[in-house]
Amino acid sequence: RSERLFINLSILMLVIFFIAVLVSAFIGGLQVPAPAGTIDPAAINQTAPFDNPGVRELVPGKRYEVVMIAQTWAFIPGEIRVPAGSEVTFRITSRDVIHGFEITGKNANVMLIPGQISLVKVKFDKPGEHYIICHEYCGIGHQTMYAKIIVE
Ligand code: CUA
Repeated sequence: RSERLFINLSILMLVIFFIAVLVSAFIGGLQVPAPAGTIDPAAINQTAPFDNPGVRELVPGKRYEVVMIAQTWAFIPGEIRVPAGSEVTFRITSRDVIHGFEITGKNANVMLIPGQISLVKVKFDKPGEHYIICHEYCGIGHQTMYAKIIVE
């Protein structure tokens, strides 16, 4: 009798674990940021807004958009300036291979996949400097791949 109870309990545990895995996979899946669009990597130079990378002023002093291209082994543009107190949306894609995008001192971290456009929103409260670094190994020049953010 107790053996049967033990077996039934084991099966019940397995079912509970299985459900737990399914639930966490589902919830975890929802947290993955969806790409903000797709793009043909070969046509970046002809596709707006990536045909003209740089800083755009949406609301002066408050909201900015940075259109950025990652490629081996640089971010374009390599230096941007925004005023302190501004909220900046980075619209980024990769021209060639998978790169990483991380802003030092900020909770911003995404993968840049060729063909996909990623959006990252960051608030810069204080004047100072931040670096955008590639955190995904992308070849011989990976360590040299960075851009500078100057908050004025
Ligand atoms: Cu780009 Cu590492």
